[in-house]
Amino acid sequence: MQVVHTVADLRAALAGQNQTAFVPTMGNLHAGHVSLVELAKRHGRPVVASIFVNPLQFGAGEDFERYPRTLAADCEKLEAAGCDLVFAPDVAEMYPVPQTYTVQVPEAMANDLCGAFRPGHFSGVATVVLKLFNLVQPRAAVFGSKDFQQLQVIRELVRQFNLPIDIVAGATLREADGLALSSRNGYLSETERRQAPQLQRELAAIAAAVQAGEREFEALCVSAGRHLNMAGWRVDYIALRDATTLQAPTPDSRRLVVLGAAWLGTTRLIDNLDFGLGNPA
Ligand code: PAJ
Repeated sequence: MQVVHTVADLRAALAGQNQTAFVPTMGNLHAGHVSLVELAKRHGRPVVASIFVNPLQFGAGEDFERYPRTLAADCEKLEAAGCDLVFAPDVAEMYPVPQTYTVQVPEAMANDLCGAFRPGHFSGVATVVLKLFNLVQPRAAVFGSKDFQQLQVIRELVRQFNLPIDIVAGATLREADGLALSSRNGYLSETERRQAPQLQRELAAIAAAVQAGEREFEALCVSAGRHLNMAGWRVDYIALRDATTLQAPTPDSRRLVVLGAAWLGTTRLIDNLDFGLGNPA
């Protein structure tokens, strides 16, 4: 496995390749990221992963500075997973001049769900992903469903800018107790870690109620939010949406997704569960 840090070395390593499968990450890799690399192998060769903590997608007061940087351990995991090439640029390499040209994500998406609490976040994500796509020029790129709204933003980016890239979604990998794997789980204290699976349990309870015929969506979400707040969480949102459009469900919706974001202490966790209607999981 080759590791490169500059655009020039990346372009040299990829010269003549047009079947590349790409997995963008911010590093501090866990088994969820590794599963995306394994999925990527089924969609192209060589498999390229990027490791870049993108300042553009972090707001003021967010965890850009404390985000864990673990390049050596990450490279070991990528190599074991069968990754061929790692692109790990520094900030000056990705942004040699101030990034004044950016992707403007439509307000309805940019200010919805996580976007409502992280102004500018999805523009920062879309901008770096567009740059990475232009650098790697993959035929397929793999993203986790764990970041459901991000996946939607990327799909729309690819569609509206006519990028010739297949977007492949990977399932969310979880700990034995249901907690979705996340680089941010490392911020949790022991007590918080024990409490963390509650977010997923509340989402699963909503999904089960809807599958059992409950249609008071708003009430279900409010009640789950109340449970979490009472247990010491600070809830940003709990929402039920159509899984295809990410809009409010309509009578025609066949797949729904229940999404949540909430804080335990100084750690913000997100999770979601998508499910079919009339087809209990
Ligand atoms: P990062 O948080 O490092 O995640 C990289 C990829 O791993 C994303 O596609 C994410 O959805 C996926 N992922 C995270 N947790 C997962 C889990 N438990 N199971 C499966 N996949 C999981 O998402 C980003 O980085 C950045 O926003 C990025 C797209 C790299 C742009 O900077």
